[in-house]
Amino acid sequence: ERVDWNSEEVGKGTFDHFMLKEIHSQPASLGKTTRGRIADDKRGVRLEELDTGVLDGVADVHFVACGTSYHAALIGARMLSDVGVRTRVFRASEYAKTAGPVSETTLVVPVTQSGETADTLSALRTANERGAATMTVTNVVGSTAAREADESLFIRAGPEIGVAATKTFTSQVVTLTLLAQQLAADLPGATPRDDLPELLTALERIPEHVEQVVTSSRASDLATRLLEYDAYFFIGRGMSQSVALEGALKFKEITYEHAEGFAAGQLKHGPLALVTPETPVVGVFTGEEAGQTVTNAMEARTRGAEIIGVGPAGGPGEAASDIYLTVPDTHPVCQNLLANVQLQLFAYHTAKELDRSIDKPRNLAKSVTVQ
Ligand code: G6P
Repeated sequence: ERVDWNSEEVGKGTFDHFMLKEIHSQPASLGKTTRGRIADDKRGVRLEELDTGVLDGVADVHFVACGTSYHAALIGARMLSDVGVRTRVFRASEYAKTAGPVSETTLVVPVTQSGETADTLSALRTANERGAATMTVTNVVGSTAAREADESLFIRAGPEIGVAATKTFTSQVVTLTLLAQQLAADLPGATPRDDLPELLTALERIPEHVEQVVTSSRASDLATRLLEYDAYFFIGRGMSQSVALEGALKFKEITYEHAEGFAAGQLKHGPLALVTPETPVVGVFTGEEAGQTVTNAMEARTRGAEIIGVGPAGGPGEAASDIYLTVPDTHPVCQNLLANVQLQLFAYHTAKELDRSIDKPRNLAKSVTVQ
């Protein structure tokens, strides 16, 4: 496939940073990710770059990825398990040692924005050597991952300059969501989602909903109130846990503040010992699990932590939060993506208040080509 990267996409325009520009460009990038891939009747998807039959015979899926792409893979795995496909997610650097036996019925999916991350390429080579089927999900046509995998699925996010991945994360999640629906339709053991039309309708509306979030977000007010704390904890359950992990990663990468993401239910099994009035807790209160995450957030609030909630207006998290960032009330999968956009903005504005080097954070590189 040909993916056009025009010159408008590689300048900063009127934005102070590439990262902010890239956050604001997500309505357009997500529109490109879904374009032509959702059936008009919302009953199926069409991933045109995959030849007919390439997914036949897949018995299980292994995702391998690093950093932000790993968090996208976690969501992809949840989408696959929802439709009954056996799935595992590996940190790419651990794959060779922990994958165990694979065969030609295992589909190994390296998720990599750049297609050049050494750890991910190494996992891809391990998979190829062991005889698995491989299909990379990447942003870069002609990248090493695209050349070495049997198949490639492109996320079509356009060039991303900021080291902290934003628009490529949301496009990865949407691409993996579509891939899961394709596997649900193709694999004999899988079952398409009952709410497939609702999910696909919501995915088509995601550009409009992201626009609402970026134009009305209160994340910049929040940033000015929340400087100088000891640490920031991010919690969620299910898919929202992956959003919490990504929210914490983005926050630490560009603010240099200590931030960690946890499964909300695990807070009481250790991290709660760290919670004080000096450690704000960010709760991702989206989807069916929001009520339980609220219960866990209250455990932190009792210890004096401020609760920053993200979720739909009137959702269970609103009353439990000291400060609440809203997302449109859409399909839960899309609510999670929109919550991620709020957390991108929270990280960005906090880093800006702290005068950090946002587009090129210290010690980090856009693409890490050593193992
Ligand atoms: C580096 C970047 C991260 C990125 C990761 C994986 O660590 O700093 O932002 O998520 O690599 O990159 P990839 O290109 O494989 O998605």
